[in-house]
Amino acid sequence: MKIFADTSKIEEIREFVSWGIVDGVTTNPKIIASDGNDLEPTIKEICKLTPGPVSVEVTTNDYDGMLKEAAHYSAWAKNIVIKVPVIPSGLKAIKTLSAKGIKTNATCAMSYNQAILAAKAGATYVSLFYGRIGDLGFDPFIVIKDTADTYRMWGCKSEIKPGSMRSLLDVNRSIQAGAHIVTVPPKFLRAMVENPMTTKTVDEFLEAWKNIPKKK
Ligand code: E4P
Repeated sequence: MKIFADTSKIEEIREFVSWGIVDGVTTNPKIIASDGNDLEPTIKEICKLTPGPVSVEVTTNDYDGMLKEAAHYSAWAKNIVIKVPVIPSGLKAIKTLSAKGIKTNATCAMSYNQAILAAKAGATYVSLFYGRIGDLGFDPFIVIKDTADTYRMWGCKSEIKPGSMRSLLDVNRSIQAGAHIVTVPPKFLRAMVENPMTTKTVDEFLEAWKNIPKKK
């Protein structure tokens, strides 16, 4: 099981890499925009911080445009993965890129059917959107579990990488459903390690240590 950081914030990524818990990074155009980052220098910096896969998403729905962007982004670093939405032109782009040996992340997948097609087209990673699948009224745990069961049955190489986490429970349930990877926003990565009883216990131990009477 692998953990990716779902952010373009350099200092957050640096911190999580130093914890030894980050296997890769995912971004999308909305993340880059809301983090207020410039795409090219930010992605190049992230690729230096982690040797793991770093997903950069195309910003067009046009097949030729996707291939053009993919060629441009792939030249930035060896660990770039091209994120392409699961739409007809996207499947076609995934097929072409995969034949060229370029790793792809089939994104915005909201259903079992789309996850199956993304794998057939040759996607390296398949991003099922946990929170948004729930918004549609479906149980994302079941969607991930069914996808994982089918991939296993087929001996499929694509890895399921749920995103769109809205709570720690979403992260936990994705792992339990059989995801190969979870991509997690910084606030939940921090929440995964924090526990008030741990803080209290550590403080109690340090306090006891400070109060040991000094030996002469
Ligand atoms: C990750 O790969 C996705 O792009 C991201 O988690 C989407 O999250 P959202 O549904 O909160 O936009």
